[in-house]
Formats: sequence, C-alpha cells, structure tokens
Amino acid sequence: MAVTSAPGPRGRFITFEGIDGAGKSSHIDPLAAWLRERGQRVLVTREPGGTALAERVRELVLHEAMDALTETLLVFAARRDHLRQVIEPALSAGTDVLCDRFTDATFAYQGGGRGLDLAVLTQLESWVQHGLQPDLTLWFELPPATAAERRAAAREPDRFERQDQAFFARVHAGYARRCAAEPTRFARIDAAQPRDAVWAQVLAAVQSRAAA
Ligand code: TYD
Repeated sequence: MAVTSAPGPRGRFITFEGIDGAGKSSHIDPLAAWLRERGQRVLVTREPGGTALAERVRELVLHEAMDALTETLLVFAARRDHLRQVIEPALSAGTDVLCDRFTDATFAYQGGGRGLDLAVLTQLESWVQHGLQPDLTLWFELPPATAAERRAAAREPDRFERQDQAFFARVHAGYARRCAAEPTRFARIDAAQPRDAVWAQVLAAVQSRAAA
C-alpha cells in the first residue's frame, strides 16, 4: 500500500530592508541564532545573491556601470535563480528563510531611486515570483541624513552607496510606499534607536507577526 506523507508546514520567509546604513544586516545572524535555539531550521541568504550565478550578477550590479533597466533585469534574473535553487526548496522543506533584501529593494532603489516605471516592476515581480511574497518584511527605517553619517564611517562604497542624499530620500520614500500599501506584511523598525532597542523591536515583530 502506498504511504503518502502529508507535507509539513512551510518555513517562514522573512526579509530585511532599509536604506544603506540603516543597520539591518547586523540583526540577521542574531535572529537566525534565536530561531535555531527554538528548534527551527533556518537559512540565511541575501539579494542580489544567494546562488553562485546570482552572486556573479551581484558583482556586476554593484560595480559595473549600466542603465536602470539593465540593473532591474539583472536583479530579477538573479532573484529568479535564487528563488528556484534556494528559497522555494527551503520553504517547502519547512526551513525559515531570512533574506537580506528582496523585491521591496527593487521597488525602493530601481523604482524610487532610479525612477523606473513601477508598472514594469510589478510585471516583473509577478513573472518571477508567481505571487510569492515574504511572510514578514522588517523595514529598518532611518532618516536618510542619519544613514549618510553612518555610511561615511563605513568601508569603500559600491555604486549605490556612492549616490547622493536625494537618491536615498527617494529610496526611503519608495520603502514608505510599499510599507503603506502592505501594512500586514511590513513591520516598521525604528532604526534610529540604540541597538538593543532595535533588537527588541525585531523580536517583537517576529513573535507577533510571523507566528510559527
Ligand atoms: P547591501 O544589501 O546593502 O549589502 P552590503 O551590506 O554588503 O552593502 O547591498 C546591496 C545593494 O544592492 C544595496 O545598495 C541595494 C542594492 N539593491 C538594489 O538596488 N536592488 C535590489 O533589488 C536589491 C536586492 C539590492
């Protein structure tokens, strides 16, 4: 007699967003550790990147001159590979996926920052994702002027980090639009607070908004 096992619960897909300098990345590994201590399998990944191919695309997008549409098509090509090879299989196997940036970054950077047509982004999003969205998106919100101060103390800037404050103000507005449009998916984290207070907000959002 054939034995069919019911599929287990899907993993949760949690994304980390914010302008460069907002400090999102420093909370990803601690959150992964916190979830693992509670017995959860966790995969930490990033965009652009997360597969060998997508990491090569990342190098191009961060360092080679190109126009906004080329940039957009490349980040979605990388995303397609990442979804098929890594994110979808992990979620289906019940593993939580923590991803440093996802499609909200494309709406914020290419849409807001570069001024790319949002209808084109929406079309690409639906082709590439077939309706898949993060279960929870943590938006680390920091005023663009504060983020600029933090970036100034950081390492060698890439193509995005070199942009002026007006660019980051548009990126910030792009995130704010996405957050307002999907308040259930987004949790706004006040990233201007001290690190411990930011961490407390991250945990509160994960516990209340992405219940296991
Ligand atoms: P980031 O995530 O900040 O990594 P690091 O901490 O190593 O600098 O850098 C990725 C950059 O890529 C960031 O400046 C935003 C940009 N980006 C886009 O422009 N569009 C996208 O869709 C994604 C995922 C990232």
